[in-house]
Amino acid sequence: MTDAHSAPRTVGVVVVAAGSGSRLGAAVPKAFVHLAGEPIIQRALAGVRSVARVMRIALVVPPEYVAVLAADQDGHVPAARVVAGGAERTDSVAAGLAALGSDIDFVLVHDAARCLTPVAVFDRVIDALQAGAAAVIPGVPVVDTIKTVGPTGLVTGTPERGGLRAVQTPQGFTREALAAAYRRGGSATDDAALAEACGIPVRVVDGDARAFKITGPEDLARAERLLAADAEP
Ligand code: CTP
Ligand code: MG
Repeated sequence: MTDAHSAPRTVGVVVVAAGSGSRLGAAVPKAFVHLAGEPIIQRALAGVRSVARVMRIALVVPPEYVAVLAADQDGHVPAARVVAGGAERTDSVAAGLAALGSDIDFVLVHDAARCLTPVAVFDRVIDALQAGAAAVIPGVPVVDTIKTVGPTGLVTGTPERGGLRAVQTPQGFTREALAAAYRRGGSATDDAALAEACGIPVRVVDGDARAFKITGPEDLARAERLLAADAEP
């Protein structure tokens, strides 16, 4: 069987780690902040490298970190292609996508700040791509009731909670779908929104509480607590 659906597909991951981390407010960019003795970026990379089907990684970092990270690849499989990010997250994703190479079929875009994301989440995203989806995102049910609010502070609506998902990364795409989304461009808080704007159907798979994003100091503390609990006998 070597038809298009059963032939092995190559999986690459763009790890975006070029943000400043203004809400965390540390002295170094967020990805370089230590979490239980190890920089967030190294934890994120270790997680991505433990996904069996990943054959290439593009690591997007602040320009001043490119040289040091490119030199620090000894023994790591797969080695990461290290490139400089841009001012907006979308600029960083575009740089990573360009670095990944045109022989990659499926591209996963992953926030380094979600450094505790379980391998199972990556596997679910890759499985859905291999089953034929063009775009796949992990999502978790929302626990709070969500309101839409207008500029004067008045509630304009209450979406039915059962139909809402909080979405995470890795977000996976066929390379053509992600390239089309980025050619069209625009601003968005996740990559799937750019694909949606192109009319590309986006499938949701189960996310995981551990795929939360380290944003503020309380998230760093939460991640430290989870790692401490993991280390308990
Ligand atoms: N990111 C990036 N390039 C940017 C902005 C963000 O690569 N120009 C990355 C971050 O490094 C992070 C992920 O995108 O891994 C999610 O972004 P976010 O959590 O917002 O990180 P920061 O932008 O660094 O944080 P803040 O918004 O608080 O400044
Ligand atoms: Mg940001």
